[in-house]
This record gives sequence, structure tokens and C-alpha cells, in this order.
Amino acid sequence: MIDWKIKDNLYNPDNVAWHGNKYLTGNGYMGVRGTLEEYTKNQLVAVNLAGIYDKVGDGWREPVNAPNGFYGYLIVDDEIVRLPDVTECDGKSDGTESGNNTGNVATVKCSEHFIELDYRHGVFTRCTTFRLLRGNITVRSSRFVSMDNVHVGAIKTEIFADFHADVKYVFGIDADVWDINGPHFDIIKVSNDGMLTVDAVTHENNHNVSVAEEVRSDFPCELKDEEELNKALKSVSFITDVNKVYEIERFFAVYTSLDCDNPIEKAKEDTVRIAGAGFDKLLDEHRSAWEDIWKYSEVIIEGDDKSMEALNYSLYHLHSIAPRHADNLSIAARGLSGQTYKGAVFWDTEMFILDFFLMTEPEVAKKLINYRIDTLEGAKKKAAEYGYDGAFYAWESQEKGFDACSDYNVTDVFTKRPMRTYFKDKQIHISSAIAYAIGKYVEITGDDSLLKEGGAETIIECAKFYYSALVKKVNSDRYELRDVIGPDEYHERVDNNGYTNRMAKNTFRLAVRVLENDKFISHICKLEEPNEESADSEIRSRLLEMFKDAYEKIYIPEPDSEGIIPQFDGYGELEDVTVDEVRSRLLDPKEYWGGAYGVASHTKVIKQADVVTWLAMYPQDFDTKVIEDNWNYYEKRTEHGSSLSACMYALVACKCGMTEEAFPLFTKSATADLAPGGKEWAGLVYIGGTHPASAGGAYMVAIEGFAGVEFAEGKINVNPRLPKNWEKMTFHISHKGTMYRVDIEEGKATVTEVDDRRSLIA
Ligand code: BGC
Repeated sequence: MIDWKIKDNLYNPDNVAWHGNKYLTGNGYMGVRGTLEEYTKNQLVAVNLAGIYDKVGDGWREPVNAPNGFYGYLIVDDEIVRLPDVTECDGKSDGTESGNNTGNVATVKCSEHFIELDYRHGVFTRCTTFRLLRGNITVRSSRFVSMDNVHVGAIKTEIFADFHADVKYVFGIDADVWDINGPHFDIIKVSNDGMLTVDAVTHENNHNVSVAEEVRSDFPCELKDEEELNKALKSVSFITDVNKVYEIERFFAVYTSLDCDNPIEKAKEDTVRIAGAGFDKLLDEHRSAWEDIWKYSEVIIEGDDKSMEALNYSLYHLHSIAPRHADNLSIAARGLSGQTYKGAVFWDTEMFILDFFLMTEPEVAKKLINYRIDTLEGAKKKAAEYGYDGAFYAWESQEKGFDACSDYNVTDVFTKRPMRTYFKDKQIHISSAIAYAIGKYVEITGDDSLLKEGGAETIIECAKFYYSALVKKVNSDRYELRDVIGPDEYHERVDNNGYTNRMAKNTFRLAVRVLENDKFISHICKLEEPNEESADSEIRSRLLEMFKDAYEKIYIPEPDSEGIIPQFDGYGELEDVTVDEVRSRLLDPKEYWGGAYGVASHTKVIKQADVVTWLAMYPQDFDTKVIEDNWNYYEKRTEHGSSLSACMYALVACKCGMTEEAFPLFTKSATADLAPGGKEWAGLVYIGGTHPASAGGAYMVAIEGFAGVEFAEGKINVNPRLPKNWEKMTFHISHKGTMYRVDIEEGKATVTEVDDRRSLIA
């Protein structure tokens, strides 16, 4: 059995960026990177906020990081004590001396250091013992951002020394935040008059981001105001008794003007209340909110603790970024781990993350889809700008559906010039992902209210978009989608990408179904003619005719004489080389593989699952032999340069009964944030952060692949093909409003209805 904790004993500055992601804590409203309290923007500290963005000058528009209420550091005998800049310490070694002892920063040795994450309850702990000239002093702290009240965070710091140390603990709110394309605050008002507060105002839209903080300690000490630029600080000073533990509790609240009219007052109010409640009570409430979540979402795997840990750790990340507090927020490609990928929402959410919430917490799935329904106007605007009808969703979606994707996503490592990339213009498969998600939501939950509340309209608008993008040669009867980019981004501007065409076909199918159902008509036709209130049967028949025709005639590539489905027109004629050969042609390890002159662009080597993603979504399209042949063919030619790739290969491998081949790919997906070595660069652009799509993909492999859960004709079918060490597997699945418990043992599955969802979380 697993202990639901991960821990790192070594202090290594090279891991600071990676550990920031690995040890992330969050509650959907904010994500706090797993950095230490004494760290600043130089160590990539971030309290990353969901759904609030800012743009400065020509920089990329990105999410805003709030002032950090966890900031704090120790001064002992008048010298700042902090981890050496370059060292490793493991309790056995002496550590290495700090190279930086300018001013009053102590030259310390670190004799013991660890960080730990309780990923069942989202609690981050650090403990460091500093070896000073007069003795050893230890600082140990535990902190969380509450799952019970998403605006608040709390930290308890314990300090003890084996000598009479003269301690000053400086703490408060650090508003000098880490930004990639900032600074985003034009105004920063700090105050330490009574309560600590920071009221900051963003550049583009004058949003207030307000933080208030209180401290509690139950021992005699001197409380003083401290001054530092853009920080609201106080300090407590005391002399330690030998080995006596001194506890300091701190509480903060964050609100923005998107939350309420007077965020600073609201932050102060909450802070007074939570400080009154105390750390232990808040922690209890936070832990029990997490326990409620796990009651229906944990996956128990007997016989393979490593897999159980990696999978549930992945689910922890998904829970930490789920927007439970909002009606219509979605999940960004790098979650709440910072500003990479501009805090934007990609197809990752609908195609990789949605299934987890659909099956465990459909209310969250509905919120994710509502975000797309709410941003339909933005998608219609984008379609119109490109000369299309209907809805062309943003490739990198921010609020109101604004497409944050730049025309130049990659910087050339040689010339340092921005490279024109066509992700925004040509990755038209994005709209089909949204239609697909709505269809899946209705199928799995049985709840068609979403269709009436904008879902039907959204599907029709997506279908209109594809219809207007179809191309037909005069002498041919088939419809094509030309000049697109499929999931494999290394091959830009291709014709008839199989995945894209197949997903567009599904969009036409969904649109036909919606149009044929009288229930939804009044929710659709008025949209065709905004001033027209009543359902218009002429419009309905016209749309029906169009979409039925498109559904039938859209060209779907067939397997060639060797049984291989060409990824796009002309793929078969490209240079057939191995991934290693392509890699060996790189002149710089950070070089971009795709685009006009990329090393992979003119070869058959692809970035990520493309045809195989189609096969994962529609295995019924081909017989197992074709699926297996294509898996073997494309897997060899895939770089897996995106964390979205391995899970799709694993899923398809399961569907062909290739559990052994699937297993390492499952592990790769489930450990994307746990194991070192993630991909951090695209050209010269830093892309590090957490990988929610990979986490969601790992869930899909475990539940839909290994456990073999399928929904057909309103029923759950379970056909397990567990990896060899997985003796038993237990999890819950929500289907059509009822929660089921699934137990798998010795190749057999038992599905038991759980009385009712509420009893699970009561
Ligand atoms: C992948 C896309 C993905 C994006 C965000 C890119 O590297 O190619 O498919 O949507 O990352 O995760």
C-alpha cells in the first residue's frame, strides 16, 4: 500500500524549477509552486491565479501571479540564514559552504534538508537544519492552500535550535513576483499597518489583485514592522531555549476584482476569520475536503504500488487545478504551475482531461465545457476573421475565447529570430474537440441540459465552421480539408490530415443528431438569425441537408496497400528515417524539429500520436489487425515530443490486447511530473510546468485501457486486461447520474451500484 507522500532529501539548486512543479499545491483558484518560503522570483516562486490574464507591451499575454503570502526567512545572530547556492545535503554529508555571503547573509552549512508533499491532502512540508558557528537551528514548515475555501492559504513554521539562538523571523507578502512577460502590476500598494496587505493593480485591465495576511504565535516575542521594496513585511524576534519548539502560524487570503467589488476588504475579512480559527482547524477542514474528493476518485491497484502512486499523484494534480469554485473556467495546458503556455486552454482539456472528471465528478466536466460555451462568441469572431462560418475555437484560449497563440511560437536557436508557426491558423481540429466533448458529456452523464444551455448551439456552430472549410475539386465528389495542421505539429500546412477529417465528420454527425431532435430546435435556429425568435423549419432542413451531405462525403483516408493509414496526403513519400537519425541531425539540442526547415519536417518522423489518436477515439473504424499494424508503424516514427503522445499509444495498445507494450507508455504518462527529464524547451521558448493532459491520459489508459471500461447502449461494459503485476483494481465510475464501484480481480470485473453519489461524499 502506498503512503500518499513523495519526498526529496537532497538539496540541489538544479532541481528547483522541476521541484516547483513536482511539489505544486493548488485548489483550482490558485496554484503554489513547490518552492521554499525564503525563495523569491529568482527561484521561480509563483502563486499562479486561474482565469486572470495581463499583457504588457509586445510581450505574450499570460496569467497573473499573485503576491506570495508564504514569503518568510530567518535571521540568526544578525545574519540571514539560507540554503547554500550550490550544495547537496542528505543528513550524512556536511553540505557545502555558501558561495554567497555578501552583506549579512550567513555562510551556513546545511546538515539536513527535505521537502515532502502529502498528495492525498495537498500539504507541502519542508525541513532544513542549518549548521551555524554556535550550533544547529532547524526550520520546519507545513503549508497548504485550502480546498475548503479556495481564497486562503496557511502555513505553520516551527523553529528550534540546540543553542540559545538570537532569532528573527521575517515574513509577509512578496509582491515582487516572477513574470515571464511582465511586470504585470502597474501599482503595488503595500502596508504593514496592523494587518499586512498588498493591493496590486494589473497593467492591461486594471484588475486589483489583493492579499492580506495575519500572524499568530503563542510565545513571548517582539513583533516589528520591516521595510523592503514591494514587500509587506513584519518580523518576530526571540531567543530560543535549547531544543524548545517555537510555532508561528500565518494566514493569508487572495481576492481579485474578478471575484468581488472590494477585494482588499474581502481579503482582510477572510484573513481575520481564518486567523481566528487557527492553523489546525483550517487544516482539518482542508484535509476533509480532500478526503471527500478521494472517496470517489482514488484508484486502488494491488500488486503494483509504483503504478498506484504515479496514477493517484497524477489525479492529485488534476484535482489541484479543477475549477470547482467557478461555473465556467477551464484548465490550462500547464495547469496552475506558472505562466508557460500563457495559462491558455488547449484541446488537452477536452481530449485528455475531460474523461477523468466525466467519470468521477461530472459537475466539474460540465464547468469545463461551459467555459467553451461561454467563449463561443470569441470562436465565431475568430472564424469570421479567417473568412469561415461558425465557430473556430482559439488554439490557445484565454478569457472570452481570446486566442493567445502567437504567429511566432518558436524562436530559432541560430538566428534568434521568431519563426512563423501556424498553430493558431491551421490547427482546426480544435473545434471538433469541443463538439466531441459535448457529445461525450451527454452520452456518459445522460444529462442533456447542457445541450439546451448552449451545447446544441456550439455543436451546430462547429459544424458550420467545418462545412465552410470543406474543399471539393470540380471533378470529384469528395470533400476535403486542406492546408491544416494535425496533432503532429512538426508537419505544418498539410492536406487531409486523417485525424482532423475524422473528427470533423463526427462533428457533422453530432450536428445532425441535434438537428433531428425536436427538443433542441428552439435552442438552435434562433441562432442562425439572431432576431428570429421562433424555430425556423427551413433553416433546420437546410442545415440538416448540408451536414448530412458533409458527413457522407468528407474524405476519410483509408489504409494503403500495406495497411497503413497515411497521416496526410503525401505522407508516404516523405523520407523514412528513424527518430534517432533525425535527432542526430540536430546542430543544437534546443533546435525546433518542425516548421519550414525543421529536421523532422521532411521526414516521416512525427512529434506525437496523430493517426493513433484517431484510432484511440474510434477503434471501431478498423479491425484489430489494421490498428495493430498502424500502431507498430507509427510508434517507431514518433518522437513523443509532446507529453500528450504516450497515453494515446498506450490506450490503443490496450485496445489491441498489447498490455505489455502499453505499460511503459502508461508509466511515462503517469510520471510526467514525478520523474526528471521532462521536455523544457521548444526552440528558445521555455515550456516547463506540470502536465495535466498527460495526467488525464494516464487515467484514460488505466480505466479505459487496462480496466477496459466502455459505455455502450447506455450500459457500462468492463473488459479488463490488467498489467501482469496488477492483482486487483478498484475504482468508481459515474454513469448517467449513478455512481458504480468497479472491482477487478483475476480477469473478472464486478460492477456494483453505490447507493447514491451524495452518500459517497457525505
Ligand atoms: C502539443 C499540443 C498541445 C500543447 C499543449 C504542444 O506541444 O503539440 O498538442 O496541445 O503542447 O499541451
